[in-house]
Amino acid sequence: MARGGGAAAALLALLVLGSHAGAYAQEDHDRDRAYKCFPAIFSLGDDWADTGNARTLYPTDLEAQEEVSPYGMTFFKSPAHRLSDGRLMIDFLAQAFGMPLLSSYTTGVVSNLRHGISFAVAGSTASFSDLKVPYPLLIQVQWVDKFQSDVLDALATAYFRTALYVISTGQNDYRYALQSGAMSVADVEFTVVPQVVENITASIALLAENLQARKFLVISVPPVGCTPEMLTLFASTDPLDYDDNGCLRKLNRLSELHNELLAAAVDRMRVLLSLQDPSYNITFVDMYSIMTEVLYDPPKRGFSEPLLACCGAKEPYNFHEKVMCGRRMLIQNSTVLASACSNPREYISWDGIHTTEAFNRYAVNSILEGRYVLPGDAFRCYSAEETDDSTPVTPSSPPPGAGNP
Ligand SMILES: *[C@@H]1O[C@H](CO)[C@@H](O)[C@H](O)[C@H]1NC(C)=O
Ligand SMILES: *[C@@H]1O[C@H](CO)[C@@H](O)[C@H](O)[C@H]1NC(C)=O
Ligand SMILES: *[C@@H]1O[C@H](CO)[C@@H](O)[C@H](O)[C@H]1NC(C)=O
Repeated sequence: MARGGGAAAALLALLVLGSHAGAYAQEDHDRDRAYKCFPAIFSLGDDWADTGNARTLYPTDLEAQEEVSPYGMTFFKSPAHRLSDGRLMIDFLAQAFGMPLLSSYTTGVVSNLRHGISFAVAGSTASFSDLKVPYPLLIQVQWVDKFQSDVLDALATAYFRTALYVISTGQNDYRYALQSGAMSVADVEFTVVPQVVENITASIALLAENLQARKFLVISVPPVGCTPEMLTLFASTDPLDYDDNGCLRKLNRLSELHNELLAAAVDRMRVLLSLQDPSYNITFVDMYSIMTEVLYDPPKRGFSEPLLACCGAKEPYNFHEKVMCGRRMLIQNSTVLASACSNPREYISWDGIHTTEAFNRYAVNSILEGRYVLPGDAFRCYSAEETDDSTPVTPSSPPPGAGNP
């Protein structure tokens, strides 16, 4: 895997930016105000918000999961550098606020720059060290810093202050820690969870105090014991290990703990920062409850398959740890093919690890309606409008050679 494309890409971003940024003036600022709530979104985190960074950082990784058909099938009609069958939560957020889909930072395609950019990298963590994807949250905060100093002359300071910073990470920390086999669930609970929360909190503090960020949307982790991947890898013969929704209790405890600690940290930060400057707005999203609400009564929320992967192979969760969505493999003389279901709309999980476009849409609607969001009126500025689903959008794709130093 090639690494270190970040600096080159940032430079490229700067060059391409020139023509647009120079023109940023009062007139543009007024026009931006037409966008609902925020002029721009900056997104940091992992798979849930990566719109192309992993692809650019690992251009030679032919195995990249998000580039395999049927990824993107529901909305983009082909792979779109996203780990889902369609739009991610960050895409639905951007569209809800009247913006185009976010480009990815390392790609260098910045036509949509004035509406923000995604720094998120699929596979990245908040703190657990994983050498395969060495771009944890703190590294992404450094990219924000670099990005700001690159474009500060061109873009008004107000742009960074009024933008929404969306942070969604943590799930990979727990996946990797548990899957390493070196740690018990209790180890993860006592050592990894507090560290992950501390690292997220530290990143928010850096953005708030050093990098002018004022508006945050902090997204907590969904129940990690409910994904087809974890249900398969940590299957138990003891029925008591499962909760009423069919999820693994012990693993869900990790998410619960993460979210309790993160919510408390965010609360403290909200109080402290608003004393300094009332324009700080830190919103916490309880992803655990959003997903649990669906798991508790799927038909009521429009889903029929809460625990199965749409795209995959193997009973009982349609997840095969060796044959990921879109792949085929010869196992014991027979071909195992991991293909997509015909009705991804009815599934929560797309590929066993990542959620479907349908769930992502559901979650963002919940956020915009203020359900499982603290404070609940964070998006008062948003007035619901039908988003146009009829036309597929072409994702921004890396130009040839982008990311190669
Ligand atoms: C997480 O925080 C600890 C200190 O609290 C620090 O040593 C470590 O480098 C941080 N890790 C990341 C990836 O930010
Ligand atoms: C696979 O096929 C070969 C030859 O056809 C046979 O010898 C072998 O036992 C088979 N293996 C399995 C696991 O079925
Ligand atoms: C901050 O959030 C509160 C909701 O608690 C809202 O009433 C207020 O308008 C927000 N302020 C800004 C500047 O966005």
